[in-house]
Amino acid sequence: MCGIVGYSGPNNSVGPIIEGLSRLEYRGYDSAGICLKINNELQILKKEGKLENLKELINSQKPFSNIGIGHTRWATHGAVTTDNAHPHGNEIFAVVHNGIIENAGTLKKELQAEGFQFKSQTDSEVFLVLLTKFFKQGNSTLKSISKAFETITGNSAFVIMEKATDKLYALKRSAPLVVGENKDLREAYVSSDPFALVGFAPKIYFPQDGVICEGTVTTCEVNLNFYELDLTPSNRYKFQSNSMSVDATSKGHYEHYMLKEIHEQPALIDKLAAFYIKNEGRKVLNELKGFKCDEWHLTACGTAWHAGLVIKNYFEQINRQRASVDIASEFRYKNPILNKGEVGLFISQSGETADTLACQELCKEKGIPTYSIVNVEGSTLFRNADKNFLIHAGVEIGVASTKAFTLQALTGYLMSRAMEGTLDDSRLFSEIKLLSTRVAELCSQAESIKEVAEKIYTQKGFIFTGRGKYFPIAFEGALKLKEIAYVHAEGYAAGELKHGPIALIDESIVNIAIVGPELLEKTISNVEEVKARRGFIVIVGPKNHPEIEHLADAYIPLDFNGLDNLSPLYVNVALQFLAYHIAKLKGTDIDKPRNLAKSVTVE
Ligand code: F6R
Repeated sequence: MCGIVGYSGPNNSVGPIIEGLSRLEYRGYDSAGICLKINNELQILKKEGKLENLKELINSQKPFSNIGIGHTRWATHGAVTTDNAHPHGNEIFAVVHNGIIENAGTLKKELQAEGFQFKSQTDSEVFLVLLTKFFKQGNSTLKSISKAFETITGNSAFVIMEKATDKLYALKRSAPLVVGENKDLREAYVSSDPFALVGFAPKIYFPQDGVICEGTVTTCEVNLNFYELDLTPSNRYKFQSNSMSVDATSKGHYEHYMLKEIHEQPALIDKLAAFYIKNEGRKVLNELKGFKCDEWHLTACGTAWHAGLVIKNYFEQINRQRASVDIASEFRYKNPILNKGEVGLFISQSGETADTLACQELCKEKGIPTYSIVNVEGSTLFRNADKNFLIHAGVEIGVASTKAFTLQALTGYLMSRAMEGTLDDSRLFSEIKLLSTRVAELCSQAESIKEVAEKIYTQKGFIFTGRGKYFPIAFEGALKLKEIAYVHAEGYAAGELKHGPIALIDESIVNIAIVGPELLEKTISNVEEVKARRGFIVIVGPKNHPEIEHLADAYIPLDFNGLDNLSPLYVNVALQFLAYHIAKLKGTDIDKPRNLAKSVTVE
């Protein structure tokens, strides 16, 4: 989703802003812009499309400005046009915004009736106009920001610069925002993502909702001051040193980030097992020993929701504890039954997904403890959770989530084993080692999956099927394929096809059937039903199985032996490769698929 980067300091702001925005490109956007101060005037440069377009515009002018704010926009209110791109500005202020102003329509009408003009169709410009109105009424900049912020509803982050000073202002409500400083270089930074500030700002701060941060750079120092909305000093912010590394952003020798991230999985699986069984992570898992709750409420979106379905199986089958899994955008509005003695478990790569955060908030309001399975340390989900189970996936840049899914599900498995009290069972470590070995084998044999992709990539539709523990993998396999290959794909429980979807089957449809060693005969019967209706059959199933070999039009043989609980994660990697190769054959933009954003910070 939208990205924000701002700079104030003695150097040219253009470099760090463009570098920061490039790092945030993976999150998805459709236009980009920057506001600089040139000859004491606010000058806005913006362009529809890729950041490259903005860079060309900047290069043609070679501007120098000690202060600037930049933005990549993912359209919500108003079409993808240069006018709707951010920053929005006038002769006094310039503003960039992430999120949604829910009462923008009403406010805009009122402001227009008062004679204010608008240049764009965005909700964001409403904040600029409000701010300007309050300022013209004689309020200070801080007071005007606070009044404008109190007038709007919805979740948003804003960064503001003004013509009169070299100060940066930032504030937010339930949206990601980080401010940073480099004391030695007298530089102040602001961003929607700490990753943009790696290598620039060694010290970073996360202001809480409704805290205004004012970054001031003088000839001798940089100061970050925090204020409540009534302008009294605030200490409602968290400090963190920025320890991330920029190397994590390189694609290495891989053609795509997605491919690199799939290949990273064996090493990350081993690392996570060592972290939670042998090293620092053991402490948080030990706290779960013997833990029982009346019901786990697992909530997440997309791929993370699929990981939730896998984890639900662990909690139910291994721990015999009740676990419900909801899509976050449904849970938040369904008036869920939440009682004392239950726990909310939120699964998210980014830790910034708006719907997931809203569910966390809801559980907090009801007095239910909130736990997270999350990748980004310091994210909003992480900061607001009572207990965090980090997945240590490193930065995931490919928009289609791969390694995060595997590590989310594995973390859930480790939690389940911790509750059971079997973390010390030496077989656990070997079992996880076996998973990483099998995934590594898959990585080295991916060419054979490419051959399967070549046979099916022109087909019209894809139905993924699985039973039991592979049912969530049917969903995840289908999601991966539709996201990056832009083809119609659905996941179904294998036994459910004949209750409706089988009407779709003809020779243009592929059934990607996950046939695990459990319920093998029943699953094969389901495949036979599709075959009888001329569907093209791809079986992802146990190797050396003559019956499957005979039945399948294409076969991805896997070694399930010994994997037991972890086999869904293994099967899923095969489907990640399949989606990748189909997308590559179709020539899509694999790392940044159309219409998608990496981190969905709006409802
Ligand atoms: C799909 C994908 C999305 C995310 C979903 C939740 O490949 O990445 O479905 O899983 O948007 O995002 P997080 O995990 O950041 O909450």
